[in-house]
Amino acid sequence: MHPMLNIAVRAARSAGTVISRAFEQHDKIEIESKGNNDFVTSVDIKAEQAIIDTIKKSYPKHTIISEECGEIKGEDNDYQWIIDPLDGTTNFIKGIPHFSVSIALKVKGKLDQAVIYDPIRGELFSASRGKGAQLNNQRIRVTQHKELSGTILAAGFPQNQKNQLDAYMNMFKDLFSQTADMRRAGSAALDLAYVAAGRVDGYFELGLKPWNTAAGELLIIESGGLVTDLNGGHEHNTSGNIVAANGRLLKEIVKTIRPHLSPSMK
Ligand code: IPD
Ligand code: CA
Repeated sequence: MHPMLNIAVRAARSAGTVISRAFEQHDKIEIESKGNNDFVTSVDIKAEQAIIDTIKKSYPKHTIISEECGEIKGEDNDYQWIIDPLDGTTNFIKGIPHFSVSIALKVKGKLDQAVIYDPIRGELFSASRGKGAQLNNQRIRVTQHKELSGTILAAGFPQNQKNQLDAYMNMFKDLFSQTADMRRAGSAALDLAYVAAGRVDGYFELGLKPWNTAAGELLIIESGGLVTDLNGGHEHNTSGNIVAANGRLLKEIVKTIRPHLSPSMK
């Protein structure tokens, strides 16, 4: 295993321990509102600290960009760790056992290592650039469906962008009418990991942040899939609007949603 992936795994597991212990008594957790339908708990912060401590111990000069603490600029900006310590905070708060730790490493701007860890199921999804993607050390791949018919797509709802609801509903309606079914599970990182593992055939969501998607993007690429924005382009990291699937299916998804994109989604 690449030494930096090894550190990412160690960091994700230590955050996972913090999260799963706290989940046993989740009714005692302190919750704060960060904004519109956006929450943070004391557990997000504790898990984040566990990850940062682990990375800093081995790589004190690397830069860290993490959801709750923002950017910690290191002397060496070629190495950037992008972290969501708890992806699926709303599920966590509600006692729904579906959330994850997401850690990615970019080297000179390119995704290089990725880990998404589900501490409840003990599932560790990982990828190293050019070396494929794994779930608990077993190789994973995206599915090969070429058409929407018969597929299951994961989706996120635009809970922070309800001004986009009409456009979103139109996209959803057109996709849903052609697929077998949809899932809205509540952790973008796990949605991407599930596409990589072939558990769902594709995924789309609006308004995500780099820490929600960085590790998942490398997992998808390394499992033979593609990640684009809603138009099939490469603006997903700036817009936060994302589609993921195998290349052929992604084309079908984009073709279906494109007519419904509002100007700000293009
Ligand atoms: C959220 C989850 C959710 C997605 C939201 C994200 P958070 O991340 O990934 O599935 O729909 O857009 O903000 O806030 O729990 O880290
Ligand atoms: Ca989070």
